[in-house]
Parts: sequence; C-alpha cells; structure tokens
Amino acid sequence: MARAKVGVLISGRGSNMAALLYAAKAERCPYEIVLVAADNPDAPGLKLAEAEGIATIGFPRPKATEKAQFFDALDLALRRAGASFVALAGFMRILPAPFVAGWEGRMLNIHPSLLPLYKGLDTHRRAIEAGDSHGGCSVHVVTAALDDGPVLARTPVAIQPGDTPDSLAARVLIAEHQLYSRALADYVTREREPDWLLNRVRELALALPQADEILSHGMPCFGIVKGKKFGYFTRGHHGDGIIALLVKTTAPDEQATLIEADPDRYYRPAYFGDGWVGIRLDLGDTDWDHIADRLRASWRQVAPRKLLGLMDIADQF
Ligand code: GRF
Repeated sequence: MARAKVGVLISGRGSNMAALLYAAKAERCPYEIVLVAADNPDAPGLKLAEAEGIATIGFPRPKATEKAQFFDALDLALRRAGASFVALAGFMRILPAPFVAGWEGRMLNIHPSLLPLYKGLDTHRRAIEAGDSHGGCSVHVVTAALDDGPVLARTPVAIQPGDTPDSLAARVLIAEHQLYSRALADYVTREREPDWLLNRVRELALALPQADEILSHGMPCFGIVKGKKFGYFTRGHHGDGIIALLVKTTAPDEQATLIEADPDRYYRPAYFGDGWVGIRLDLGDTDWDHIADRLRASWRQVAPRKLLGLMDIADQF
C-alpha cells in the first residue's frame, strides 16, 4: 500500500522532524516525508533532512507585509512535493486562516504541554509554577485557533522536585519524539480503516436530498427514501478483500472508460452489470471531492424528476 506523503514544517533545530524522519525508515511505517520546509534558510534541521536525501526548502524570513505570499509559496511547495499531510514540528509562525483551511483535517502539530492546558509559549514554566504533578506533550489536529484542534494523543511526563523549565523541557522532548511518529502513523492509517471509510461515505451520501441507508446483502446501501439505490459500500464482498464504493455510471461506456483510465482504482462490480462501477477506497489516496461528485451524479441517475428539479434550483444558489 502507498505510504502517505507528509510535508514537515520547521523553524529551527528540527529534532521532532528528525524523529519523524527516522521513524519513517522502518519498513512498515505508513508515511514518508516528502519535503521539509523552513521559514529560515539557516534552520539546522534542513541540513539534517538534506543529508538524509529528503527534499528541503528554506524560505527567507518573510517581512510582515509578505506574510500572505510566504504562505502561498509554502502551500505550493507542499502540493508540488505531493504532500497530502502536513506535520508542524516547531514551526514558529501563526498560520493564516486560508492556509489552515487548505489543509483542514490534514495538518498536525506537536505541542509541549498536556493540552488543553498551557496553549502558547512558556509551557514548562507554567506547569512547574502551577505545582502540576506532570507536564507533557500533545499531538493535535491544527485548526484556526492556536493549539486548539482535536487532541489525538498525549504523553504525561512527571515533574521532579527541583525541575527547571529547561530540565523538564529536555525530558518532554524525549516523550515528544516517541509520541509524534506514532500519532502521525495512526492518523494517516485511520483513513484506510473500513469503519472510518464507511462513515465518510455515509456522511456524503446521507447529505443528498431524501437519502437513506439500509443493509442489502450485508452491504450498507444508500438510496432515495422508498426509491432506488445510488450507492453501495462494499467491504470484502464475495471474499474479494476490497473496500470500495459502488455508484451508478452516467453514460453507456463510462464503466469501461474509467477502468481503462485507472485500472487500479475502478472495477466492474460482480453481479451489478454495466450500469455500476466500483471505486476502491482502500488505496490510501482517495480524493473525497471526487467521491462526493460521483455520489451526487449517481443520486441524479435515480432521483425522481421532481427532486431533480429542486436540486437544479438549489444548485443555482
Ligand atoms: C518542541 O518542543 C515542540 O513541542 C514545539 O517546538 C519545539 C520544537 O523543537 N512545538 P524541535 O525543533 O522539534 O527540536
């Protein structure tokens, strides 16, 4: 199975980036690092990544007025490198909303506290001064608010008598290096798990007008209430070991055309004939906008005329 492609953003030392990179050398690691980018051409982490044969890019420090261009260029570099996930590893910049939106649900960060405690800077001093028994680190999904997205994993690190912010930071860093690659690996593989895939399909299918779900021959099946079916979710059906979505085709030769264009992804579903096509969801690089479009097109094939008319009117807005 293809490894998920990850771009890592750093500002300095890059020890978390190094931990991610070395973990990716394991044969069974489900991600690979395709780019390490920094907002400073002298970031020491860049040299390390370069020596390991990873593509790097060190942007000159942007002036305040160049912030938007800087993030546009960064976004472009990540996409050109083929990244489908971004890992922030000590990237010391406030991210503008459009950049965050472009990587929604695909960007993770590591933060040196047990979130939701101590967002922002100076986390170790704050934990010690509060008399906490533990500091620690957290990996979270990045959202528009600072250090605030859903927490994926945390490691508590005991605070010892006489600890200073530096001595605590040094131990937390060891924990960070362990935690980040594990959390990232779990995150990129969750999209290959059948239940996650089914939920994603279900969300898209049931958002269509008058859609409902039933079980048909053991397969979750989406249709128009009291009407025809427009989507089936298959998981190892007839022992084929495949996780896929079956949708109706929209033209007579479409099944053959799709299979010819991308034979790894599309297939002719057994017992469904020419009017349906299977789209594999277990390849690790599913384009969910495309799946949403295919479900919608399939829905249109079976929707009663009245409903189609309403959909057309809604589409105009
Ligand atoms: C780490 O403590 C990380 O939690 C925080 O910034 C620091 C980066 O260190 N976000 P490094 O550059 O990964 O060594």
